[in-house]
This record gives sequence, structure tokens and C-alpha cells, in this order.
Amino acid sequence: MSTYKVNLKVNNLNVSVDEGTTILDAARQLNFKIPTLCHHDDLCVAGNCRVCVVEQVGNRLLPAACATPVSEGMEVLTNSMKVRQARKNIIELLLSEHNADCTKCFKSGYCELQEMANEYRTGDHIFLDVRSKNEIDISSPSIEKDDSKCIRCQRCVRTCTELQAVSALAVTHKGKEMKISTFLDKPMNDVVCTNCGQCINRCPTASLVERNYIDQVFDAIYDPKKFVVVQTAPATRVAISEEFGLGPNRSTGKMVAALRRLGFDKVLDTDFTADLTIMEEGTELLTRLKEALVDGKEVALPMMTSCSPGWIKFQEHIFPDMLDNLSTCKSPQQMFGPLAKTYYAEKINKNPADMVVVSIMPCTAKKYEAERPEMRGSGYKDVDFVLTTRELGRMIHQAGIDFEKLEDEKYDSILGESTGAAVIFGATGGVMEAALRTAYEIVTGREVPFANLNIKPVRGMDGIKEAAVKIKDVKEEWSFLEGVELKIAIAHGLANAKELMNKIKSGEADYHFIEVMACPSGCIGGGGQPIPTNMEIRKKRAAAIYEEDEKMVLRKSHENPEVTEIYKSFLHKPLGHRSHDLLHTHYYPRKRY
Ligand code: SF4
Ligand code: SF4
Ligand code: SF4
Ligand code: FES
Repeated sequence: MSTYKVNLKVNNLNVSVDEGTTILDAARQLNFKIPTLCHHDDLCVAGNCRVCVVEQVGNRLLPAACATPVSEGMEVLTNSMKVRQARKNIIELLLSEHNADCTKCFKSGYCELQEMANEYRTGDHIFLDVRSKNEIDISSPSIEKDDSKCIRCQRCVRTCTELQAVSALAVTHKGKEMKISTFLDKPMNDVVCTNCGQCINRCPTASLVERNYIDQVFDAIYDPKKFVVVQTAPATRVAISEEFGLGPNRSTGKMVAALRRLGFDKVLDTDFTADLTIMEEGTELLTRLKEALVDGKEVALPMMTSCSPGWIKFQEHIFPDMLDNLSTCKSPQQMFGPLAKTYYAEKINKNPADMVVVSIMPCTAKKYEAERPEMRGSGYKDVDFVLTTRELGRMIHQAGIDFEKLEDEKYDSILGESTGAAVIFGATGGVMEAALRTAYEIVTGREVPFANLNIKPVRGMDGIKEAAVKIKDVKEEWSFLEGVELKIAIAHGLANAKELMNKIKSGEADYHFIEVMACPSGCIGGGGQPIPTNMEIRKKRAAAIYEEDEKMVLRKSHENPEVTEIYKSFLHKPLGHRSHDLLHTHYYPRKRY
């Protein structure tokens, strides 16, 4: 980064910024907000919507603030008459092509275009109305695509290409016909889309939103014949507060209280099955290492985590020759479902046919995952409905619950106990850290050699993280691991995952175990989390996750007493017969298009 400073004036105030800074960021340093639509802090500059135009003294043209770097002596006005009129005209032009039916729109109240139109008091429709037809693509169980709401800002295209390296979306046609399309304009469900929802997080309108199942869940709650249990993923508990203007915050107890007030019969925790995942996945890793190091078998290494359904689908499309490397463990959501409808149903004496399992997830791909035909281990659909953190926020608003004033409540038991290791699943590196806390202790009988169990080398927002842990003084039964340097890597965001996979395929990198999460920053940055998203917000969510871990009494998955009990009375052992039937799965190669 340059240290050369450029001096300029914004709205007659002096400011000195680094060379290369845009007018937009210089204005932000003086706390002037310039409206933006195509710009997003996570993405490269596009400069195509022009709502961020400003006046530069001495320049006849109005430069786009997001795409124009500052220069020495520049004088900028962000709200002159000329700027205001130009901005109004641009917003009017966008609305002339837009199906602005806000009263029926899922995004109303959360929409950047609506907010801007309100701020600038547009709505006179001075331009010809040239709206496109309102054909909504609901082929995907995760994503709804409505072209009539699209303002062609291309945030989605840049997200899918730059951050996710999927390129499921592209700009097609020109002029009035220009649209965001899939390959050959096929339905979203028939293309390479991973359902990650990152495009939804960055779409400023309702052109891309999650498929919402709020009404179906309320219907189940109000059906007296149904017993409705809800599970909540680790990352939801630090972000739900954002839906109520409270910023990223530890809100586990309030979330539990809100779910109870919504009428769920039992409020349970996906964190329980996150702990269980560590037992199953850790055992699977140790088994693979033994087969490779002792039995000399051809084993697929590195083993790769399988908690992230967007990553699984990406792997099925892009690296179908490496599916054996994926752990066979289902995600914690999908471990919870079959256990709820077998073990739990039996314990509480309920007919699983009358049970409805609802998940609150930070992730839109979990909606698709629950629909996979393999996810019926209980003999029923294991997870009936998946709601995003945002949908839960809507439900709480609709029910008139004052979230901020709720007193903390605890999860129900059983399937409600968890450890700090499970909570950190929500942040990139968390699954790896949880696995190391348990595997190291099982193999050596000692805690991992990191202060206060915090394995700092696997934390943080670097796109790809690598580390090595030397295993010494092992217990006798693990003697084959004596002196082994366990090599690990972590990637978050599918573009980083692709880079890591290419390094592994080319032989440039060599690991035993890798963690991949489809979403930037891991589940805390999931496609179902509150909007807006940017690195600053995701770092705050991660800080809340690690704080939650430190506050937990138990911080290692193998210490969860409910996990111990379920192995004693039901599963018998990790990777055992019952685990195989209920908790493990397989994957299928898919075509790119
Ligand atoms: S996308 Fe925004 S502006 Fe368009 S109808 Fe929905 S809320 Fe209104
Ligand atoms: S959901 Fe993910 S993969 Fe699918 S189009 Fe959006 S960003 Fe691309
Ligand atoms: S779908 Fe959304 S993000 Fe993509 S171009 Fe349209 S408005 Fe922009
Ligand atoms: S936000 Fe600057 S051109 Fe779109």
C-alpha cells in the first residue's frame, strides 16, 4: 500500500488520503455517505450504475466516485444541485425498468434500491415504463431469481466469479435486452450453481433472494398434530442480533427464548451434532492415517471436511475425480435430522411421522442439502424445513417479539448440550481447531499445546491458511503417529478452495487434512446471514464466536456428556454400524453444465 498522501477537498473540507484511494473512500473518511448500487466492498470496481456520481470542480463531467481515484488538489462536491438532479434521473431510469411492486416484495424494508428511491423522493416516473416480464425462477430449493427486479448492477456476476469461482451467472444480451443469465438460460437448479447464496447477500434488490419457507413453518407450528423441533447452527447465534439493529453480538440465550415464544415444541442445538461430527470425522481421519501409514493401503488423502453443502456441490461439479477425499460425514444439520427422528423420537416417545424438524441456518445451500435424496436416513425426510438467519429474523418481527428485551434461556435437553469446539464451527478454521482439540488429546492423552486451547494459526481471514502440528509422545495404541507432522490447510470462499485444490492436484501441496467452507469467512459469512455483509462485519461475528467459545464450560467435543451418552446407548462407537446408516453419506459426480 502506498504511503504517498494526496490532499483534496470534499464538500469544502480538507482531507489527506493514500494515493490510489477512490473519491468514495475519501468521502467516507470524512463521514460523507455517497450512495452506491453496483459497488460492494467485497468486489472489484464495476462503475456501471452511476448513482455515485459527484461533482468535481472544474470538470464538466460527473465522475463516478467508486471508480475514480483522488488527485492532488481535487475539489469534490457530493451533494450539489447538479449531483442531486443527476442521481434522481439515474434512480428514475432504474425504476422505469424495474418491477417496483414494493408492497408484495420479500426485500421491502431491506432493499437498497427502495431505500435510495425513498431518500431521493423519486417515484414520479418521468421516463417510459419498460419493465421486463415477471417470470420468477424457483427451480432451486435455495434461490429465487426474479429478473423483473434486476437493475443489472452485476454484483451477483462478480460475486459468483471473483469470490466463488463458479461463474454460474453471466451478463447476456445488450441494451434493453441485457440480463443476468445462466448457461443457455437454463433454470438455476440445472446449472453449476452451488446454492451458496453469496450473490443473494450482495444483490441490492429482490432479484436474488432465498426461497423462503416461513409460512410453511408457521403452519407446522400451528398444526396440533405436529411436534415441531428446531435446531440452530453455530453461526446464527452471533448474527441474529443484526436483524434487530443490534450489530454482531453473542445472542444465544435470546435466540433460544425467541424460538420458544414462536411456538417450537423443543429448541435444540446443531452444536450437539457439530460435537458428534468431530467424533465421527476425527475417527475417520485417524482410520485413514492408519490405513496409509501402517497398512500401506491406497487411501484418499488429504481428507476434506464435508460440513459445507455448497463446497460439496462445487466439488461434485468441478473436481469429481476427488470425491473420495471428502469425509463421508454428513453435515451437522443432516446428522441432527435422522437422530431427531430416531434416537430422540424414541426417548421422548413421539411418532417420527408426526415430527417436523426445522433448521435455522446461516446458509442457503442447507435448503438444497435437506432436499438431497440421500438425506432420508431416518426413513423420513430428515430435515423438513431450513430457514436462514434472515428468515428467523422475519418470523420474530412478524410475531411481535421484542428481541432486545428477551431474557436469556437455555436449550432443551437432550440434543441441546454442546461445547465451545462446536461453536467455533461457525468461523473459518473452526472445524479444524475443534478436530485438533479432540484428535490430539485422544492420541497423546494431553491437551493441544496452545495457550487456553486457542489454536491461533488456524484462525483469521487469510483465504488459505496452512499449519503443521508435530505429534509426539503418543499413547501406545497410536504409536504409528509418533513423530508425524500433521499437515493441514484451511480455505474459505470457493475461489480460495479452487486454488487450494489445484495446488493439491498438481502436487505442489501435500496435506493430511483440509477444511473448506464455501462462504467467505466460513458460516459467519454464509449466504443466509443478515445483509449487509463485508469484512468488518464478518470479523465482528468471528470475534463473538471465539468469545462464546471462551465462555463455555466445556470446550472439547469429546467432553460433551450427551455425546458420550448417545455412543453408550445408541450409536455404540464412531464409524459403527448405526453411525454408518444415519450419519454418513456419499457423493455423486456432476457435469459442469
Ligand atoms: S426490489 Fe426493492 S424496489 Fe424493487 S420491489 Fe422489491 S423492495 Fe421495491
Ligand atoms: S448461489 Fe453461489 S454459486 Fe449460485 S449463482 Fe449465487 S454466487 Fe453463484
Ligand atoms: S441479480 Fe441483483 S446483483 Fe445481480 S445484477 Fe441484478 S440486481 Fe444486481
Ligand atoms: S456505485 Fe459507483 S458506479 Fe455504481
